[in-house]
Amino acid sequence: MEHPIQRRDFVTTMALGGLALAAAPSILSAQGAMPAKVKVALIGCGGRGTGALSQFIAACKILGIEPEVVALADAFDDRLQKINQTYKLPATKLFVGYDAYQKVMATDCAFVLMATPPAFRPVHFAAAVEAGKHCFVEKPVAVDPVGARAIIATGEKAKAKGLAVVAGTQRRHDASYLKNKALIEAGAIGAIRGGVVQWNGTVPWVRRRVAGESDGVYMNRNWVNFAELSGDHIVEQHIHNVDVAIWFLGRPPVSALGFGGRARRDSGNMFDFFSVDYDFGDAVHIHSQCRQITDTASRVGEFFTGAEGSCYGGGKVFTKKDVQVPDIKLDTGDAMVQEHVDLIRSAFNGKPLNDARQIAETNLAVIMGRMSAYTGELVRFADLLTNDKSPHYNFKFAIGPKDFETGNVKLPAEVPPIPGKA
Ligand SMILES: NC(=O)c1ccc[n+]([C@@H]2O[C@H](COP(=O)([O-])OP(=O)(O)OC[C@H]3O[C@@H](n4cnc5c(N)ncnc54)[C@H](O)[C@@H]3O)[C@@H](O)[C@H]2O)c1
Repeated sequence: MEHPIQRRDFVTTMALGGLALAAAPSILSAQGAMPAKVKVALIGCGGRGTGALSQFIAACKILGIEPEVVALADAFDDRLQKINQTYKLPATKLFVGYDAYQKVMATDCAFVLMATPPAFRPVHFAAAVEAGKHCFVEKPVAVDPVGARAIIATGEKAKAKGLAVVAGTQRRHDASYLKNKALIEAGAIGAIRGGVVQWNGTVPWVRRRVAGESDGVYMNRNWVNFAELSGDHIVEQHIHNVDVAIWFLGRPPVSALGFGGRARRDSGNMFDFFSVDYDFGDAVHIHSQCRQITDTASRVGEFFTGAEGSCYGGGKVFTKKDVQVPDIKLDTGDAMVQEHVDLIRSAFNGKPLNDARQIAETNLAVIMGRMSAYTGELVRFADLLTNDKSPHYNFKFAIGPKDFETGNVKLPAEVPPIPGKA
């Protein structure tokens, strides 16, 4: 999808509450209050965790702060050894196993970056806030409604403690998306009446079982193919696009009616594809479409139709109206660095960002889409967030994060759910 808006060179600004604000003196002076040094730790040293740590370090450089990596934690030692080829920490700062996160919390790091498979995020986030750490939480933050509501509760505790929490929904820190959000708020396309959000791509990877491996190790090593750990790809990957719809509309969907299935996947228990009608109320519907099937057309993005125009999520705006908004000036054109700049700056300027509720609500929306597709039922947002009489409210997978800690994992059948029977 198109991205015609030029990124601009770096001027100190900050993305706040969905709108980027031009540099204000208070922010500039707050930057003067930045510490000379910050200590950071990472839990989950795979592809994204490795990237997030280097982006945190890049953000520190932009802010003129010296970063110190004080701990690396992972369930598996080979992952630790790999990332430590870069950081060369002594063995005393490398923590391995399912309790490694607890050892991170006992260090004097100010920031914890969390990038394990999402099923573990509610437990790790709760421990981090309990220990008084500022948090970067990769998306998704949960795989079931119970986990998502726990994120909201922990987010409130973080707020009370003045801790900063930023989620890895990088589009919210991207100049082209921020500009379109500002244009929509200024009326450029009128009220959004509908749209489509898509993540159509391929299966990221399959990791086959190694002889002698336990059920738990196999599942975790192959987590992008198991719903218990990933939430399925509507949650794990497509969350980015549904998040843009919720952000641009300013409210979560009321209900989801979806379907999906499996044609090609030969590993794990997830669907290949989902198609979900998200009803946002007020006669606004957003079609969500996601597919992981190799050798098929790919499209990742968002498109919205308004009463007076239309636009891509972070791309071209079609309107006959002459609506101007201030230039979006960020510290960097790399949204995945900008999110760390915003996290660190907000931790020290007295206005800590707190994305917990926002990411948990988007997470509930994609869980709702999955639950509708798996069961064949219409699922309401309230059934997951507030209606404790709903059978969906307390849904949890039979295998949860604690089972991995205790080694009590029995591999589920590697078949997808059957709608109408699930
Ligand atoms: N924002 C983005 O664009 C983006 C992109 C990719 C991935 N992600 C998210 O980042 C997270 C990680 O994805 P990835 O691609 O790095 O996966 P990965 O498999 O490469 O890495 C996950 C790491 O977590 C470790 N791990 C598993 N369980 C653990 C536990 N209980 N405690 C400690 N370590 C544990 C694994 O051993 C592995 O090293 C996921 O939530 C994913 O959705 C976000």
